[in-house]
Amino acid sequence: MPTTPTLDAIRTKSGPPRRFCVAPMMDWTTSHYRYLARQLSRNTLLYTEMVTTGALIHGDTARFLRHDEAEYPLALQLGGSDAGELAHCAQLAQQYGFDEVNLNVGCPSDRVQNNMIGACLMGHPDKVADGVRAMIEATDLPVTVKHRIGIDGRESWDDLCEFVEKVAEAGCRTFIVHARIAILEGLSPKENRDIPPLKYDWVYRLKARYPHLEIIINGGIKTFDECHEHLRHTDGVMLGREAYHNPWLLAGVDPAFFGQAAPSESRHQALRAILPFIQSELDRGVFLTHMSRHLLGLFHGQPGGRQFRRYISENAHKAGAGLEVIETALAKVREPEAPEIAEA
Ligand SMILES: Cc1cc2nc3c(=O)[nH]c(=O)nc-3n(C[C@H](O)[C@H](O)[C@H](O)COP(=O)(O)O)c2cc1C
Repeated sequence: MPTTPTLDAIRTKSGPPRRFCVAPMMDWTTSHYRYLARQLSRNTLLYTEMVTTGALIHGDTARFLRHDEAEYPLALQLGGSDAGELAHCAQLAQQYGFDEVNLNVGCPSDRVQNNMIGACLMGHPDKVADGVRAMIEATDLPVTVKHRIGIDGRESWDDLCEFVEKVAEAGCRTFIVHARIAILEGLSPKENRDIPPLKYDWVYRLKARYPHLEIIINGGIKTFDECHEHLRHTDGVMLGREAYHNPWLLAGVDPAFFGQAAPSESRHQALRAILPFIQSELDRGVFLTHMSRHLLGLFHGQPGGRQFRRYISENAHKAGAGLEVIETALAKVREPEAPEIAEA
């Protein structure tokens, strides 16, 4: 794992593919999850968890931006609204080799609202536009925005169009749209991912109205059938919770959306492929449980899957736990004789 940027890591960017993306999710889409995801799909665009500009500038920058080159294509998601700070962080993203820098305009938590981060910025399209313009000027990376279709008090179609138009005028070409509003007064972040109704047709209408923009749809998508339907109206799909709870779904992405074979033929093969990485992380002092929690869904719905999950849950946190926990858990699930076909 590189801890400092190298010139080799600074690659020419024409923009990563965005046909199929895994959403940024705090505590979930860590480097360890992404490493597993990359054994399942080469083409899925992965996003980091949100990192605030304040944390990057005043905290341990190298730790926040740490990732493995095996995770590419990879986008860094930023939380912030100060144009100067965003520009600085976009430069850091480029130095560290990320393929894209994304601005979070969708997170509804109180903590971030107080700092003018996340969904509250939907009420300040000029501020978002200034931040986006500053990032574009500061870096060669594509700058994208992930947002909601509105917030309470600013939830009309015209409000949404005003937001998208102002940010597009600043130079943003790619909009990732969570197809529900965020209710900033009275709902928790978790409730804000389920309660406001999904309005996919609004995202389709955005694409129809602004065909020159790349529009990626997000929110509540679970199956490949749903993805194919959304792709008739938009340029890409982004899955969050389903891709985390059922990561094997990603093994179907390269065949279904990119005409390529999956990198792993079975869950067993994918898991074995990441064991050396897990060992190298253990060697530098990372606790097994920090990594193994992302494996719990890998055998979701498979015979023995529950035993796999239980064994890891009961043993990975114990002092000195190492690879043997994963190997013992793996032995509890029967290895298929033929390649598995990822279903969705
Ligand atoms: C645990 C968790 C953490 C999340 N963290 C972020 C985040 O850091 N940045 C962000 O833009 N969205 C975040 N989200 C929202 C997701 O990116 C996504 O928009 C949302 O879950 C809807 O997609 P889904 O229905 O496919 O999960 C998070 C969601 C979850 C479940």
